[in-house]
Amino acid sequence: SKGNYRHFMLKEIHEQPIVVAQTLRTYLRRLEGELAPPPEDIDLASVRRVTIVACGTSFYAGMVAKYWFEQFARVPVDIDVASEFRYREPIMEEGGLALFISQSGETADTLAALRHARASGQKIAVVVNVPTSTMAREADLLLPTHAGPEIGVASTKAFTCQLAVLAALAASLARAKGRLSQEEERRIVRHLSEAPAAINGALAYDEAIEALAATIAPARDVLYLGRGPDYPLALEGALKLKEISYIHAEGYAAGEMKHGPIALIDDAVPVVVIAPSGPLFDKTVSNMQEVQARGGQVILISDYDGIEAAGEGCVATLTMPKVHPLIAPIVYAIPVQLLAYHVAVAKGTDVDQPRNLAKSVTVE
Ligand code: M6R
Repeated sequence: SKGNYRHFMLKEIHEQPIVVAQTLRTYLRRLEGELAPPPEDIDLASVRRVTIVACGTSFYAGMVAKYWFEQFARVPVDIDVASEFRYREPIMEEGGLALFISQSGETADTLAALRHARASGQKIAVVVNVPTSTMAREADLLLPTHAGPEIGVASTKAFTCQLAVLAALAASLARAKGRLSQEEERRIVRHLSEAPAAINGALAYDEAIEALAATIAPARDVLYLGRGPDYPLALEGALKLKEISYIHAEGYAAGEMKHGPIALIDDAVPVVVIAPSGPLFDKTVSNMQEVQARGGQVILISDYDGIEAAGEGCVATLTMPKVHPLIAPIVYAIPVQLLAYHVAVAKGTDVDQPRNLAKSVTVE
């Protein structure tokens, strides 16, 4: 049931502090400051390359994971949407690890890719939310998310739980590769453990975002910008908005704007900039200023320091809790989801059952 919430989507957004904590419990030994040991039947130290395959929002979780796997474990990652991967004759070295990410565990494109990878001699790891699903059954290494049933067609809590699992997996892979000191492991466990409280802090912006939605609802196009591990969030923000509000939206890597898309900017285009404090902040802000100089209406999502440094000239700002860059994609998913939700409500669309879409896509 929806409880006191107007839609399943809103309920599921608000469940995230609990379900992310629930998911992390499987992968972290918080008190010991350690990662939980990986299942014995998988030798992470021998993984030389990871191939990630998924669709939609699950694919964007995989894109974030590519940054983490490469940064922490120094393992090269190939990533593709399942429908392209399956039919492009991908190169897979015998014994490689293929990682599939799916809420439902039934998506036909992803399942076809999984079976193709198995036939090509890959070990199959699956991050999946439905424990009884086909993909869960076909996995060598099952990495469950504990988001609970997700009813809204727009994926929300499954996404943040996928990110939690993938961050822990990246750290486990780094440890297996001898690239993580005990001190660093302890630090990563601590940062990840802080995610549920930080999500709570982000949820406190629900009303502020609702107020903002009125200014976005009339727009014809909306752009989302981010960099590094927060770039996939820009793609996710745009997908969420398209799916449930039917407003045309695109996500771009912030630095790519000046190579073409900036031609779209005028004062009728809201631009959502996702820019947590961190090593990429200054670069993102200079891309944002290029947009502002052309009349773009910027909504800046950052933390207190980021808003202090760059909030001037924005039509709106949203102040997230200050978090370590590792968990920023998890925390910044919240305002992106809430924004899409409130814009859709303002437009009066069927939020939980958007037109032309099904919760689980079982045809290729
Ligand atoms: O169940 P899956 O995670 O495999 O589903 C993949 C996509 O169909 C799904 O994420 C879709 O993009 C959502 N409607 C996004 O909100």
